Amino acid sequence: MPLRHRLLGFIAALLIASLLVGSYLKYRQALAKIELEMSSAISVAEHTVRDAVGQIPPGALQFHEVERIVTSFNGDRHVRAEYILQDGSIAIQSRPRLSETPAPHWLLDLLAVSPHTATIAVPDNSARIQLTSDIANEVAEVWDDAKLKLVIIGVFCALVSAMMVISLGRVLKPLKDLSNALQKVGSGDYEVHVDESGPEELAAIYRGFNTMATKLAAAEQRNRQLNEQLNTVQDEERAEIARDLHDEVGPFLFAVDVDAQTIAPLLERAEHGEVLARTQAIRQSVGHMQTHLRSILQRLRPGTLLDLGLAHAADQLAEFWRSRYPGIKFDVACTDESFGGKADEAAYRVLQEGTSNAVRHGKPTNISLSARKLPSGALEVSVTDNGLGIRPAARKGLGLAGMRDRIALLGGTMTVDTGPDGRGVTLRAEFPAPQTLKSASALQREEVEQRL
Ligand SMILES: Nc1ncnc2c1ncn2[C@@H]1O[C@H](COP(=O)(O)OP(=O)(O)OP(=O)(O)O)[C@@H](O)[C@H]1O
Ligand SMILES: [Mg+2]
Repeated sequence: MPLRHRLLGFIAALLIASLLVGSYLKYRQALAKIELEMSSAISVAEHTVRDAVGQIPPGALQFHEVERIVTSFNGDRHVRAEYILQDGSIAIQSRPRLSETPAPHWLLDLLAVSPHTATIAVPDNSARIQLTSDIANEVAEVWDDAKLKLVIIGVFCALVSAMMVISLGRVLKPLKDLSNALQKVGSGDYEVHVDESGPEELAAIYRGFNTMATKLAAAEQRNRQLNEQLNTVQDEERAEIARDLHDEVGPFLFAVDVDAQTIAPLLERAEHGEVLARTQAIRQSVGHMQTHLRSILQRLRPGTLLDLGLAHAADQLAEFWRSRYPGIKFDVACTDESFGGKADEAAYRVLQEGTSNAVRHGKPTNISLSARKLPSGALEVSVTDNGLGIRPAARKGLGLAGMRDRIALLGGTMTVDTGPDGRGVTLRAEFPAPQTLKSASALQREEVEQRL
């Protein structure tokens, strides 16, 4: 059920409950009032009639005197008087006042109290005057009063309900907008924003929502870029592997084929010395191919490479580039200590990206790769080159950004600095000591806790 209907239902239930309690209290009060009014009316009437009867002289005029007494109750609001003869028949009866707005029967039944009566004997004891309480006028009075109060309460309830409907509609509309916006975010539309106006508490929620949507949009954009980069890197990697296979393995395969073909004719001519030379040539070609295949596999699976330690992996990396850029001098000074699988791999990626950047963008003559344990126990990895340095107009690539994310997930930091004379670049990363390394989920949890 919508919140609005729930709140309105709750308020309606409260109003009805207070109406019922009020009605019950009013009912009890009316009963007590009627009881009191009837008993005092009968008591006063009884005294009056007794006084009047006491003054009637015995004799023939008695009937007229009694009739005068009984009819004196004509128009009385609470007491009915009757002159009852010895045989039980009613000789004279007073006419109580009739209410202009009589109460409904159900109310008369509801407020019916046991009637009060008083009987006064006339002097010769042949007949009597009976007084009986009549609640009709008193109930009519209660009814008049209740009608007025009911109208006032009804108007009050209607006004309160109308105000609640209007104000709830106003207060809840932004929440409805927020709920719609959340649904859009849920379906992947992060461009949606909500109006930040309204009460301070709600405005704070809207501000928080808008910030969240903006950050989600940025994260998605970043994610998309990283995916694109991943695809590009994968494509480049594939192209490079294809080139390597073509350039490095293809010629040797061809050579093996040629050598293998010559063996049969050589054997026919019994040139055994030449056959031996061909076999050795084939083995040499296969050896070259094995070396290249191993190098390709190591690039594809750094994990395997890291099995032999970061220092060994760094040496292999330097070797890989050295064979392609003989003009560059590579210095490697890396610790053999392991800082945990993830940190070691991230450190290797820093060396890989730093070296690749230096070779691709810097045209250096010297590149130094270093990984060492700091006195604090942290691991420091750096790649320094003496190339052209980062140009002010350098495009914002994704290699360094992705690296920074990868390092941050492990609780580390990364800096890229150009040398003081504007030449050379140092890419430096620091990973916390192994026992303080945190998982990505723990870091995200901490970030959320800090925001709260
Ligand atoms: N050692 C370096 N020497 C000179 N310029 C550098 C060096 N390292 C980075 N840069 C500059 O910084 C830019 C950003 O580098 P980044 O690694 O983020 O991207 P990229 O190498 O251009 O592309 P990729 O996304 O493939 O890594 C480079 O384009 C380059 O201009
Ligand atoms: Mg790069």
